[in-house]
Amino acid sequence: MQILQSLLVGAHLLGMAGFIAAYFVQRRTQPDGPLIAMWAWSVLIVSASGFGLVGVGIATDDHHDPVKMIIKGGLMTVLGVAVLIVYFRRRAIPRQLPAVFATAVLAEVAVSVLIT
Ligand code: HEM
Repeated sequence: MQILQSLLVGAHLLGMAGFIAAYFVQRRTQPDGPLIAMWAWSVLIVSASGFGLVGVGIATDDHHDPVKMIIKGGLMTVLGVAVLIVYFRRRAIPRQLPAVFATAVLAEVAVSVLIT
C-alpha cells in the first residue's frame, strides 16, 4: 500500500506539473486555440491520482481532512469539466482562458499546502 501511495503522489505531482507546462506551451504555440491535449491529460492524471490517494487513505484508515478533500474535489470537478468541454469542442478560445485555468490550478495548490 505504501508503494501504491508513493506512485500516486508521484503521478499527482507530475499531473500538476503537466498543467503548468500546458499553460506555457499553449501560450507559445497556439494562444488562440484549440486547447492542447496536455490539459486533458493533466485533468485525467491529477483526478485519478487524487481520488486514488483518497481511496488509499480510506483503505488504510489514514483519512485526509474531509473539508480539504471536498474543496479540492469540487474545484477539480469544475476545472476538469470546463477543460474537457473546451478541449473536445476543438474551437478557437479566448486568449485569457489558459490563464483562468492556470489560476484554478494555483488555487488547488494553495488549498493543498495551506490547509494542513
Ligand atoms: C489541479 C488539481 C490539484 C492540484 C494542483 C493538487 C496539488 C497537490 C499537492 C501540491 C499536493 C502535495 C501537498 C500535500 O502533501 O499536502 C497534493 C496532495 C494530495 N492531493 Fe491534490 N491536487 C489537485 C487535485 C486533487 C484532487 C481532485 C484530489 C482528490 C479529491 C486530491 C487529493 C490529494 C491527496 C489525498 C493528497 C495527499 C496529501 C494530503 O493533502 O493530505 N488532489 N495535491
